[in-house]
Amino acid sequence: MAEISFQDRVAVVTGAGRGLGKAYATELARRGAKVVVNDAGAEQDGRGGSASVAELVAKEIVAAGGEAVAHSEPIGTPAAGAGVVELALEHFGKVDIVINNAGVLRDKSLAKMPAEDFDLVLDVHLAGSFHVAQRAFAAMKEQGYGRMLFTASGAGLFGNFGQANYSAAKMGLVGLSSVVAIEGARHGITSNVIAPLARTRLTEDMPESMGPYAPEQIAPLSLYLVSEECTATHEVYTAGNGWFAQVFVGVAPGWSPGLGSYPSVEEVRDNMAAIRNQDGYQVLTDAAAILPLIERAGGRD
Ligand SMILES: NC(=O)c1ccc[n+]([C@@H]2O[C@H](COP(=O)([O-])OP(=O)(O)OC[C@H]3O[C@@H](n4cnc5c(N)ncnc54)[C@H](O)[C@@H]3O)[C@@H](O)[C@H]2O)c1
Repeated sequence: MAEISFQDRVAVVTGAGRGLGKAYATELARRGAKVVVNDAGAEQDGRGGSASVAELVAKEIVAAGGEAVAHSEPIGTPAAGAGVVELALEHFGKVDIVINNAGVLRDKSLAKMPAEDFDLVLDVHLAGSFHVAQRAFAAMKEQGYGRMLFTASGAGLFGNFGQANYSAAKMGLVGLSSVVAIEGARHGITSNVIAPLARTRLTEDMPESMGPYAPEQIAPLSLYLVSEECTATHEVYTAGNGWFAQVFVGVAPGWSPGLGSYPSVEEVRDNMAAIRNQDGYQVLTDAAAILPLIERAGGRD
């Protein structure tokens, strides 16, 4: 079994000072990658910050014989997003891999969520990933190679009480990754999403009895998805405690009384069973791929 190597690859990992990001950065470096360790050293809710969190991980990597440089600016602005990629370019000459992983929580029920908490969580997760990805995409396009990974969550994919901001940001990242995958296809750039489940500072109330749920149990899939060998793109995966699976958005064959028709509310009501029937669903390659499906449902194909 050939080993997966990251020799001569340059990786940017955001939020790599703790938890999942640290596990990714450490294992990438152990397998030969030069790593930019970004971490603002923020509190769980995004407040505060300390440069030492990123610096410590970079030092640990170097002490273990690897190559790493720390970047401690908080992700979330265009300048910080460009800055972390430019540090990779200045220090290591290129960027091959981006793992957008930095994250914060500000949980509250919808009725009680201040607009400021909604904005902050979207800024860090969604806008932050966009700014890093946009700058990295330009560099990857030039070299005709790139691997991007975005971090979603079961909360975004399936919903979770008290996480309107976080869930919106996380599902937004699925859309962002899909576009990176589509636009990157002809430039050798792949993009995928991981929805992890691991015991970290964000999930510390997980009972011990559930099992290790260690970040190191997520890293094998995340690293495979950013390896040269992996050509999968435009996909979403989930993992936790030694379990791995693909998650997807599918569209059912649906119902139509005929293309161009104007069915009544009652006709729609009477056909809800057919509209809701998930048998024979498809996973589409892009938004335009829905058109042949509509034609088929309307009997024109
Ligand atoms: N742990 C889980 O079960 C779980 C589940 C779903 C999704 N996630 C996602 O995985 C990612 C990693 O989370 P984790 O569980 O390892 O949490 P963590 O708190 O251990 O690590 C997140 C790191 O991001 C850093 N950070 C926060 N805001 C930042 C910013 N603006 N710029 C740079 N760094 C910043 C923090 O300082 C922290 O070190 C997050 O995106 C999180 O939403 C985690």
